[in-house]
Amino acid sequence: MYLEYRVDGGDFQASGQAAAGIKRTLRQIGIDAEVARRAAIVTYEAEMNIAIHAYLGTISIEILPERIIIQADDEGPGIADIPAAMQVGYSTATEDIREMGFGAGLGLPNMRRYSDEFEIESQVGVGTSVRAVIILPAKEGN
Ligand SMILES: Nc1ncnc2c1ncn2[C@@H]1O[C@H](COP(=O)(O)OP(=O)(O)O)[C@@H](O)[C@H]1O
Ligand SMILES: [Mg+2]
Repeated sequence: MYLEYRVDGGDFQASGQAAAGIKRTLRQIGIDAEVARRAAIVTYEAEMNIAIHAYLGTISIEILPERIIIQADDEGPGIADIPAAMQVGYSTATEDIREMGFGAGLGLPNMRRYSDEFEIESQVGVGTSVRAVIILPAKEGN
């Protein structure tokens, strides 16, 4: 199964839709609740990062029998120092963004934490791509 969501920078009304969509879909197809929760967290942080930090992006989610692949690609300013951005509490979010309750600097570290595989690539002035994989627990009887 394949799901795709477009995310517009600065659109905090729509952000959260991809996470809600993946959570609903995974529940409908009977995916383990803990896996669904982790996938929703990763997706939510990915779409928030596009909304907060980039101009335009896409979240695509592939649900395979043994894994869920969450891919976020954006056009945006990119990240100059990825190791710094991965640190808990590191954020370049503006005061306005923080007043809305975002910009705690936990998004990327939590995406890595809740994924089984996590990769981030970025080019300054071009954009950022994040790929997260969540492995599904083996089904009983397999
Ligand atoms: N898609 C992105 N485009 C540009 N910069 C990003 C993106 N995602 C994350 N960053 C940079 O990495 C920092 C840390 O991200 P994150 O851990 O999600 O914290 P937060 O979003 O709360 O600032 C951000 O403040 C920003 O500088
Ligand atoms: Mg974030």
